[in-house]
Amino acid sequence: MSTWVQGKVVERIDWNERLFSLKVEAEVEPFIAGQFGKLALEQNGERVQRAYSYVNPPESPVLEFLAVNVEEGQLSPKLQDLTPGDSVMVSPRPSGFLTLDEVPAGRELWMFATGTAVGPFLSILHSEDCWERYERFILVYAVRYQEDLAYLEEIRALEQAHPDAFHFVPVVSREAVDGMLSGRIPQLLVDGAIQDAVGIPIKPARSQTMICGNPEMIRETLAVLEGMGLRKNLRRTPGQITMEKYW
Ligand SMILES: Cc1cc2nc3c(=O)[nH]c(=O)nc-3n(C[C@H](O)[C@H](O)[C@H](O)COP(=O)(O)OP(=O)(O)OC[C@H]3O[C@@H](n4cnc5c(N)ncnc54)[C@H](O)[C@@H]3O)c2cc1C
Ligand SMILES: NC(=O)c1ccc[n+]([C@@H]2O[C@H](COP(=O)([O-])OP(=O)(O)OC[C@H]3O[C@@H](n4cnc5c(N)ncnc54)[C@H](OP(=O)(O)O)[C@@H]3O)[C@@H](O)[C@H]2O)c1
Repeated sequence: MSTWVQGKVVERIDWNERLFSLKVEAEVEPFIAGQFGKLALEQNGERVQRAYSYVNPPESPVLEFLAVNVEEGQLSPKLQDLTPGDSVMVSPRPSGFLTLDEVPAGRELWMFATGTAVGPFLSILHSEDCWERYERFILVYAVRYQEDLAYLEEIRALEQAHPDAFHFVPVVSREAVDGMLSGRIPQLLVDGAIQDAVGIPIKPARSQTMICGNPEMIRETLAVLEGMGLRKNLRRTPGQITMEKYW
């Protein structure tokens, strides 16, 4: 397959003024839930490309990406300008290791996301063979403001469909919201507030964790989880912490 294929935008969902999803039709190679592809646009005769995780499960015929308009960013503001019918270049080859086949067995799978990094976890949670792998799945989704929580209806539907196996812990850092935790993931883990919200402890013998998004959040969360006895999951030395930084 060539390096880039021409994709067609079929829908844009505007979650708020800066946060949006693009649904794109493009012929890409099969991917594993949790992986990412690349989107690109020509700017002044140059191709500007960036990585974006697939939000859709591999079985879905239309690709979906969740993105935030980064102030003064080179590509993301231009992606937000796209409307149905517009073209966008898509890399046909998926990449990335934030996938369940990289994560060892355990009782619970904890998924920690900031901002747009909820995307790969939704792909995983919507994929066909996900639910047999662990007894419970906990999605911890941290944003600045409540209005930054995308896909809430879908996530609530997962709660309804899997009332025993799925737990959702929304975290909002810059306002107080009823029914949601307030603060940042690392401190809320230190306090035990996240564990208390689901009634499950985090321990190396039973827990697997995946962390995705803001690199500072990942660095701090890693340190907190290591303090609880968990270790990075490497191919040669399996552990309990699998990570993907977005920048
Ligand atoms: C493996 C991987 C997967 C990614 N998946 C996604 C995705 O699904 N959705 C997405 O929006 N971005 C994702 N990104 C980030 C994306 O590739 C771009 O960096 C982002 O869209 C900004 O590009 P830009 O050209 O507008 O800004 P640039 O000019 O490249 O500015 C980069 C700066 O923007 C900020 N930034 C970048 N990404 C984000 C983000 N997601 N949330 C908040 N601040 C950010 C950081 O401060 C970073 O230093 C991913 C990155 C990687 C490495
Ligand atoms: N959200 C806005 O109001 C706004 C407005 C204009 C532009 N933007 C653009 O949007 C981008 C930001 O996107 P975003 O809000 O999706 O991502 P983000 O800045 O990564 O924030 C997402 C969540 O991660 C938390 N976080 C940040 N650093 C952390 C750390 N070290 N440890 C733990 N948690 C941490 C944030 O908490 P804190 O809130 O405590 O940082 C927030 O709850 C910016 O680059 C900017 O260009 C955003």
